[in-house]
Amino acid sequence: MKVGVPKEIRPSERRVALVPESVSKLVDAGMEVVVQAGAGAFAHFADEAYQNAGATVAANASAVYDAADIIVKVQRPTFGGEDEPPESSMLRSGVVLIGFLQPLYHPAVAKGLAEMGVTGFSMDAVPRIARAQSMDALSSMSSIAGYKAAIMAAEALGIYLPMMVTAAGTTPPAKGLVLGAGVAGLQAIATSRRLGAVVSAFDVRPAVKEQVESLGATFIQEALHTEGMEDEGGYAKQLNQEAQQLEQDLIHTHARTMDFIITTAAIPGRAAPILITKDMVRDMRPGSVIVDLAAETGGNCELTKPGETVVANDVTIIGPLDVPSSVPVVSSQMYSRNMLTLLQHLVRDGELTLDFEDAITRDCCITHDGKVLHGPTLELLGEGGGKA
Ligand code: NAI
Repeated sequence: MKVGVPKEIRPSERRVALVPESVSKLVDAGMEVVVQAGAGAFAHFADEAYQNAGATVAANASAVYDAADIIVKVQRPTFGGEDEPPESSMLRSGVVLIGFLQPLYHPAVAKGLAEMGVTGFSMDAVPRIARAQSMDALSSMSSIAGYKAAIMAAEALGIYLPMMVTAAGTTPPAKGLVLGAGVAGLQAIATSRRLGAVVSAFDVRPAVKEQVESLGATFIQEALHTEGMEDEGGYAKQLNQEAQQLEQDLIHTHARTMDFIITTAAIPGRAAPILITKDMVRDMRPGSVIVDLAAETGGNCELTKPGETVVANDVTIIGPLDVPSSVPVVSSQMYSRNMLTLLQHLVRDGELTLDFEDAITRDCCITHDGKVLHGPTLELLGEGGGKA
């Protein structure tokens, strides 16, 4: 079984799907690995390091696609839009492709892969179950994004995060609010706390109160009844209009006194809920900062422009995209370890083993045998599909 690692070509993508450490584990397990020259360059993994780990280095992408039985990527393949060469044209029928295919946001990609006879596994479809934790790339990347969001807030603020006692006087600590206390939110809380800020947090799932408090933050929950807001997978359900208004009122009260807000509220497969309206921004402190991690799916703030930083009423609103890519070494290492365990799960005794009775294989396998298998993606395609 030969695993191929092409260089990522989407703009601003700096990660690589496998780092040399994981390559040597695959080689030890009897697999061959072919890496495109320069694939790890942005993350500071040189071709020589891959060769030392036992990989062969191919001069270009098509040599990797031609040689490999399994292609591992970070981003979904390009289909010829966005002024990029189409990676899809290099995928052969029968090949296995593993990456962040994001079928719920790009169902047409899944459809295209099925039509080409590609067996596609999506790293963002790994179920959040104990057995799959070491493959959960979404959580790895969200944790990095949460860390970086706190750093971005600190950098954009005109004040210190910690309390400082100096000969020139004492400055109080910055006050931060984190909305959504999932993986990204908890890491944003932890990092802001480590930097010395006083942090509060809110989430519609009351179950996270204990985790928030264990990080030294205050959990806000007054006046909002959020019981039953969790589905069987542990994810949040969408709020009805009345609950959404109550939540916005609650956030409005707290936002007025904050120096920074980090928003991470997400409902899988849906646009991000609006938690911060224009009116709330108008009432925030001059110089305060919002880092909207949900910008990828539209944003939690009404004024967020994905991929841009805007200033409204003296409040800086940062809508970063592809944040893990801005920490390329650690995000490649984490992603690579997640990829390695998924590969070890799928390839047994040198053969690809597709056991659809197994929850991990069943949930991650988006396309196989010319068909889209992933139920939620099929539902979306029934409604017309999306943009590749
Ligand atoms: P998660 O599912 O672990 O956490 C999301 C949290 O939001 C959950 O705890 C959920 O209960 C909460 N939530 C949902 N609706 C809410 C509402 N109305 N009010 C308050 N809380 C609500 O997701 P994860 O992995 O932490 O990701 C969070 C966000 O960060 C997502 O939007 C994700 O796309 C984004 N992200 C962005 C990155 C980037 O590069 N910009 C990178 C990684 C993650």
